[in-house]
Amino acid sequence: MSRFHTIILAAGKGVRMKSDIPKVLHPLCGKPLIQYTLDIAKELGSLKTYVVIGHKGDLVKSFLGAGATTLTQKRLLGTADAVKTAASYFRRSNDDVLVLCGDTPLLNKETLKNLIKKHKDSKAVCTFLTACLENPCGFGRIIRQDDRVLAIREEQDAAPKEKEIQEVNIGVYCFQSRPLFEGIKAIKADNKKKEFYLTDIIGLLAEKNASIETLQTQDLAEARGINTREDLAIAESLVRQRILKNHMSQGVTITDPATTYIAHNVKIGRDTTIRPYTVIEKDVRIGRGCTIGPFCRIRPQSVIGNQVEAGNFTEISRSQIGDHCFMKHFSFLGDARLGRRVNIGAGVVTANFDGRRKNTTEILDDAFIGSDSILIAPLKIGRKVVTAAGSVVTKGQRIPDRSVVMGVPAKITSGGKRL
Ligand code: UD1
Ligand code: CA
Repeated sequence: MSRFHTIILAAGKGVRMKSDIPKVLHPLCGKPLIQYTLDIAKELGSLKTYVVIGHKGDLVKSFLGAGATTLTQKRLLGTADAVKTAASYFRRSNDDVLVLCGDTPLLNKETLKNLIKKHKDSKAVCTFLTACLENPCGFGRIIRQDDRVLAIREEQDAAPKEKEIQEVNIGVYCFQSRPLFEGIKAIKADNKKKEFYLTDIIGLLAEKNASIETLQTQDLAEARGINTREDLAIAESLVRQRILKNHMSQGVTITDPATTYIAHNVKIGRDTTIRPYTVIEKDVRIGRGCTIGPFCRIRPQSVIGNQVEAGNFTEISRSQIGDHCFMKHFSFLGDARLGRRVNIGAGVVTANFDGRRKNTTEILDDAFIGSDSILIAPLKIGRKVVTAAGSVVTKGQRIPDRSVVMGVPAKITSGGKRL
């Protein structure tokens, strides 16, 4: 892919979210909004990515860490002013610049690839993305004469006739950097919101007969920016369906996509079945041939082997589960390390939190944990150990291989040595 840089606009207040958290840090399927545009820029091969921050910029900056160069927009004077903060980085070049908004997480990589290609091939000064929406309300409208783009008109400034235009600006642009930063200087805040609109550059370029190209996407989801909590919820369901589709295409059965919630960065092996009402959070790995759910919740940093069954009302948190383990009915495994072929009976709980820290429960191969056993961590349970139903195994122990424990507190009754 050819040379280009990216500017992501993320300084806005996000007033409509009514939130104390900056809009771009709100999570969508387990991933903050800003990360979507950052990832896409990276995947497309952006040479350098600049993120314009402003409102609660410190929080955004500390989230981004070393992953991007941040530029601070001191006063939020509009999208043109935001882009201007990057001007000094482009003083001596005419490299291409991709401008994205931090609040449009539904863009497809393919679409942007095509946009950049069209921009390069046509040698246009600006190429931007549009969509035709049944309800274009709230978006900038594309004003054309014949086929030629004349301007983008913001909703507040549009005449009634212009409001009928269904072709809208999605807020994704490729520019040649020299005419971009030259043109931006001429933008005035002579509009209803008294802001410097980046979109005004289109009219300015058109007046100069500069070549402007557009690419119209057919995937209308891409046009969805996140401005309100309702937008966030709609986007969540769209991204979720994309994630589920991707798993299905890799050989995972999802019995009921409508009630299955899988976050980002989850890997699932083929021939695993995810049954209804299951929630799998970010950073989880599940092996092949497993059956997960119904009504199962797997929390971050859990690694599950092959041929595992985790049934109804099972919660697995930060745990490692070896191959062929079973936990079929209401149990909680937190900070647990299970070997292979461990059977977890109904109602088993690893008591991993002592009020101060999370402790580990280790259960070795072929152990049989009877129904309603409470395992108080830290604890190590040996191979082929049996805990009788209702046992409370107290902390700090190492239960020897092949022993049987029972009672409250649990005592070794056979097999291993009495502790
Ligand atoms: C913008 C476009 C509109 C388009 C829509 C698509 C403008 C003027 N309008 O409108 O044509 O249809 O996106 O979603 O560009 N931001 C800053 N600094 C500022 C103001 C905004 O960094 O001073 C950032 C925001 O954080 C946001 C992005 O720019 O990520 C867009 O701003 P927003 O106010 O959401 O613009 P829209 O009204 O959605
Ligand atoms: Ca927006």
